[in-house]
Amino acid sequence: MHFLVNPGPIRSGTVTVPGDKSVSHRALMLGSIADGETRVSGFLDGEDCLATLAAMRAMGVSIERPSDTELVINGVGRTGLSAPTTELDLGNSGTAMRLMAGLLAGQPFNSTLTGDESLTGRPMRRIIGPLTSMGARIDSRDGLPPLVINGNPSLTAIDYPLPIASAQVKSSVLIAGLYADGTTSVTEPAVTRDHTECMLRSMGVDVRTDGNRISVQGGQALTAATIDVPADLSSATFVILAALLADDAEVLIEKVGVNPTRTGVLDILRSMGADIRLENERALAEEPVADIRVRSSELLGQAIDPGLVSLAIDEFPALFVAAAAARGTTTFAGLEELRVKESDRIASMAAGLKALGADVTETDDGAIVKGGGFSSGTVQSFGDHRVAMSLAVAGTVADGPVTVHDTQPVETSFPNFINIMNDLGSTISNSHEVGS
Ligand code: S3P
Repeated sequence: MHFLVNPGPIRSGTVTVPGDKSVSHRALMLGSIADGETRVSGFLDGEDCLATLAAMRAMGVSIERPSDTELVINGVGRTGLSAPTTELDLGNSGTAMRLMAGLLAGQPFNSTLTGDESLTGRPMRRIIGPLTSMGARIDSRDGLPPLVINGNPSLTAIDYPLPIASAQVKSSVLIAGLYADGTTSVTEPAVTRDHTECMLRSMGVDVRTDGNRISVQGGQALTAATIDVPADLSSATFVILAALLADDAEVLIEKVGVNPTRTGVLDILRSMGADIRLENERALAEEPVADIRVRSSELLGQAIDPGLVSLAIDEFPALFVAAAAARGTTTFAGLEELRVKESDRIASMAAGLKALGADVTETDDGAIVKGGGFSSGTVQSFGDHRVAMSLAVAGTVADGPVTVHDTQPVETSFPNFINIMNDLGSTISNSHEVGS
């Protein structure tokens, strides 16, 4: 599929974007191993989370879906999963694979995790290392999926200094820690999203956080919870970006997750001059939410604070577009992890922005982007949902039409992206590739 974006900035309006992907994955996995019935609303009906849902069902968990965004998970308890009879295909989802590897490490059965072309090219040594030292055996293709996990129901607790700031690795080790004898601790080099810790606490698990060190004692039971998933700030970012770049728009995005471990994007955009306000701040269980009001703003290039990278890790494709639309030069550094996301996001965005006439110089760990706006052009997503949506938003303020190829992956995280953008006045159409 491809997007054809006809130029036309968005107008004012109020929208709700789909549920948070990270929280939806965790609701499925942790709800499955809780005792009792976990009810979920606001679930992300996107391909990534549906892959996790199918995997949990394949391990004997009964999950009802009263509607696309509601789940009733009949938890089987911490030790109640059964061996899957086929390999578990997690599609495009790194979160699903890395968190589930932690869950499967502590099971009394073997399992195989696989995925699509992008996922089977993503590094897994980062979880194989710690999970192996806890006592699981994991075979891989030289550190790449498929992963064959030989579970061990009596894992050994570890005290693990994370070599990279990664919520997926942290979560994988903490979930495995639920099956370990003793207290498992991880120490983060920088704060990353804490949805696993929040959800475990809302399920009655004692998770201790002491600075950057998080600990969980093995053997604790999880109690079913009611989970209202906030809207995904990472998806809201595309609407925020479109509103900022528009001529004179004011957009309200409702009930968005604003967990402080995720809001780096708001701080970065504000440092560039963005008018973004949080209203009606409240909490859904352990997760803070707010309505986000954003007004079109003149953005100014900046040196982006590398200290904010782990708090905005998924938002750099959109931030590259903001930089290319800003006045002056923006420099990004400390982004080496972006090279191992759904695509190499530094390279993908540099290629896309250059094809739209922007002045971008790639560096090993970032980019130097000179602002100047966008021309008409044809770009590739490189199979990456966030690259596709970022470049589509650039197209709304380009000099002429922009075609974004290979947009199918948008279904993984933001299935109604086009509808929401077009409700706000953009003209993006979705077509099947000719000749592909
Ligand atoms: C996620 C963690 C981040 C992020 C991903 C979701 C999570 O990955 O990029 O989209 O839900 O834990 P890393 O842990 O690889 O940084």
